[in-house]
Amino acid sequence: MPPTKNDAIKEVGRIERFFGGIALIRGLPRVALHEILITEDGQPCGVAVGFSERHVEALFFDERFDPLTPVYRGRQIISTRVSDDHDGRVLDGLGRSRDGLPFVSGEFRPLFRTAPPIIDRGRVERPLITGVKIIDSLLPLGRGQRELLIGDRRVGKSTIGLDAILHQRESDNPVHCVYVSIGNKTRHLEDAVRLLRENGALNYTTVVAATADDPYAALYLAPFVGCAIAEHYRDNGGDALVVYDDLSKHAKAYRDISLLLERAPGRETYPADIFSLHATLLERAAQMSAEKGGGSLTALPLIETEEGDMTSYVPTNLISITDGQIYLERSLREKGFMPAVNIGLSVSRLGAQVQPRPLTEVTGGLRIELAQQRELQKLTELESSVSEEAKKKLARGGLILELLKQEQHETLRWEEEVVLFYAVHEGYFDDLPKEDWRRFERLLLDVLRQEDHAALVAIRQGDFSAAVKKKLGTLLTSFKDEFETV
Ligand SMILES: Nc1ncnc2c1ncn2[C@@H]1O[C@H](COP(=O)(O)OP(=O)(O)OP(=O)(O)O)[C@@H](O)[C@H]1O
Ligand SMILES: [Mg+2]
Repeated sequence: MPPTKNDAIKEVGRIERFFGGIALIRGLPRVALHEILITEDGQPCGVAVGFSERHVEALFFDERFDPLTPVYRGRQIISTRVSDDHDGRVLDGLGRSRDGLPFVSGEFRPLFRTAPPIIDRGRVERPLITGVKIIDSLLPLGRGQRELLIGDRRVGKSTIGLDAILHQRESDNPVHCVYVSIGNKTRHLEDAVRLLRENGALNYTTVVAATADDPYAALYLAPFVGCAIAEHYRDNGGDALVVYDDLSKHAKAYRDISLLLERAPGRETYPADIFSLHATLLERAAQMSAEKGGGSLTALPLIETEEGDMTSYVPTNLISITDGQIYLERSLREKGFMPAVNIGLSVSRLGAQVQPRPLTEVTGGLRIELAQQRELQKLTELESSVSEEAKKKLARGGLILELLKQEQHETLRWEEEVVLFYAVHEGYFDDLPKEDWRRFERLLLDVLRQEDHAALVAIRQGDFSAAVKKKLGTLLTSFKDEFETV
């Protein structure tokens, strides 16, 4: 093909300022936003991320780039390789191999894309089971949803994100997972990868990681690389789950970049476009319509608060972008209530419409029972005489709270959750001393896991008829008899 006029004019960019991989470049008047930059020998070295009156603003892939080297337009918008072979891979924030393995196949997808329009979307109504009791029962998630996990440092945010991924091994129709680690320490990343591998979850998971000492380009781009990989599954009719761990660190990296580029700072010195940056990322989560293949992309962004303050800039932005938030609270952790979810402050705006029917049936009343328990507790602090009725409600609330506690990485199948809460409602716990509640639960789960009981099989298929309940009753009664004799 004869060279076009544009090709004939070789645009050269000269770096005027270079600091920590962030550059201001003169020249390159026709470069596009998110176009890659290359060196003389055609090697990609950076990406254009903005323009000022006199400069092209760019992020370089390597902080040690020699700023005297001229750069050229790559004439390609930044993209990442995606494929079905990405399962089990650990990539860097630019989508390159981090595990030393080569890529064998794949196509390239742009990192920055618009979200699917409404017309191409379907209703979010298929459950995404996390295996975390408190979420599946009270804050159910649906495929295609965006739910924020928010809380102070060390309250258990990453654990919930990773557990949701671990639990997908139980899913009948596979969910491809992407764990995006942004700005965490290398050790944290290694622990996460080991956890996924040891639990067989790496088989269906891609890890995209930009650690705290990686270049800004990697920190900035990592969530978009993760999203592009997940979109590959979504757009081919599959289901994907992306955990962004975490977007506060992403926002901070973007704030540093903007300050170093001398862009005008806004609230809390964050650049004003941080909202749209995160909105464009999270809007790509979707349930696609049947005509568009019916795939889904579910997003679980994590965000760190300081001293429980949800009203600061980045958390409020993300609360308004997502379909709900799971709020983790340090004081609950200190009381030993793990996962430390504050039920009152957490919402999933989709609610029961994304819950398997049998689970809705047994958990529908939990919120009310817990609210009543809280009210009664306040009352009993003032009054000494408590009616039998109130005592019962208090005990029931206490039992539910105890059973919502859960060890990390010990996820439950949803039909097991159904059996557990059914046993609560039918009073199987009522005459047990408090100390025995958790043991009763654990042994019951052991029994359920020993053989796939007919009642469990039926529930899994959505059948929670009187006949199934009767079978379940027989199972629970005989289990309880045995429990009491040991
Ligand atoms: N359900 C649980 N039961 C017991 N311990 C837990 C549970 N969930 C998390 N932990 C422990 O709490 C600690 C903090 O958990 P995690 O790293 O998930 O929190 P985080 O909010 O992501 O922290 P960071 O601020 O470091 O990112 C870890 O030591 C983890 O093992
Ligand atoms: Mg964490």
